[in-house]
Amino acid sequence: MRYDDLIQPDNGQPATPIHIVDKNGFASWLAGQPDPVRTAVKAQKFEGSVNDSAILPGDKPGEWSVVAGVADASVLGVWNLAKLSDILPEGSYRLLDADAGEAMLGWVLGQYRYHEYLSEPKVTGARVLLVREPGKIHNIVLQARATALVRDLVNRPAGDLGPDALEAEAKRIAKAHKADVTVTAGEALEAGFPLIHAVGKAAAREHAPRLIELEWGDPRHPRIAIVGKGITFDSGGLDMKPASGMRLMKKDMGGAAHALALAELIMSAHLPVRLHMLVAAAENSISGNAMRPGDIVKSRKGITVEIDNTDAEGRLVLADVMWYCQEKYDPRFMVDLATLTGAIIIALGHERAGLFSNDDTLATHVKEAGSAVGEKAWRMPLGDAYDKQIKSDIADMKNVGGRPGGSITAAQFIQRFVNGKPWAHLDIAGTAWSSKDAPTVPKGATAYGVRMLDRMVADHYEG
Ligand code: BES
Ligand code: MN
Ligand code: ZN
Repeated sequence: MRYDDLIQPDNGQPATPIHIVDKNGFASWLAGQPDPVRTAVKAQKFEGSVNDSAILPGDKPGEWSVVAGVADASVLGVWNLAKLSDILPEGSYRLLDADAGEAMLGWVLGQYRYHEYLSEPKVTGARVLLVREPGKIHNIVLQARATALVRDLVNRPAGDLGPDALEAEAKRIAKAHKADVTVTAGEALEAGFPLIHAVGKAAAREHAPRLIELEWGDPRHPRIAIVGKGITFDSGGLDMKPASGMRLMKKDMGGAAHALALAELIMSAHLPVRLHMLVAAAENSISGNAMRPGDIVKSRKGITVEIDNTDAEGRLVLADVMWYCQEKYDPRFMVDLATLTGAIIIALGHERAGLFSNDDTLATHVKEAGSAVGEKAWRMPLGDAYDKQIKSDIADMKNVGGRPGGSITAAQFIQRFVNGKPWAHLDIAGTAWSSKDAPTVPKGATAYGVRMLDRMVADHYEG
């Protein structure tokens, strides 16, 4: 899908008009309409409800218009036009008496579909919105592309998206923006990143584990680091997941997809930062050389970790990356994104990402940026008291703290490897995937978190 063409400047071209109404204004709007329009509205039982719409007859043969219900007709929200653009036929449209504003993004993304594997995809041609704010189009297109990239990567089956494919994707993005990519694999990975190696070593050769680093921007600009969990499939390892729990585990590289898309967004918008993006890519698989429960692995930091459960693999790969990241780059902040725990879904459901941080200012920046773009994050606690849950009898620590506060002990585990540097962790296990179609997103990957962090960086860490 080419997102570039879906929003175009309004130069008075022919287009189908869209009336925007809200519940409050509905009655007076209706009263001002000619009889055939009022009849059509009634026949379609349209009453100005949010995400509802009706097709209206025009004055001349062949002419028609649309009326769409929104929460507040005076200022449109980002998703207000998503469902509408999804259901309308191919053609050009313009809003009457309203500026699309933020809703331009929803207009574009309403047309997102994942059909890489359909031999006969059901595609509707472009639905183009003509707007009076042409200066905003470019940024909207960038955001739409970033969102679509996350969704495509997360929706893609794990058989076709292993660590090698994440590497290829990083290189593709880097090439377009003259960024540098460094990949650590094989013996260098085993020596330098023992936990990433331990998690990924059972996978087939073509899906071998690796650390993917992308660096971009003027080194004099503020350094920021974005880290993604890139488990391209999480079988659970020898502590294998049951079928129902494993079914959607192609999405376990969601954090990496977010990190890649965010990197592309930051680079295309030329934000004045020095960007370090790191992805720990591995498949948590099973074979004779798989990491076992009870194995003890010496981390990059030097402390030993007892593998209590091979299914708690995300925190393992992130531990080595975080230690390396603070050691090598000493960034202003490090943010990691990870589909880390089922426990965060129990705590927050699918409506909010879990936010953990050792830095109140950073946490506030992330949280506020999330509220501003409608991707909410909820701050969760950390604290030394949780450390006793991840004490091991025979190693420096173990990777699981039991069921109580499961997402907190996971974050607490990672915190041991951030060395007190400003760090925020987003547990996106509950928000990365939508199990049903919604006006904001078709069933599948969501990309929830990309616009939050893009906004956070743009608002606080420029030059
Ligand atoms: N990738 C999963 C977490 C997950 C669960 C993401 C559901 C998305 C949806 C993670 O690697 C995992 O398996 N976590 C375990 C940890 C447990 C063994 C301590 C979990 O949450 O059950
Ligand atoms: Mn797991
Ligand atoms: Zn996982």
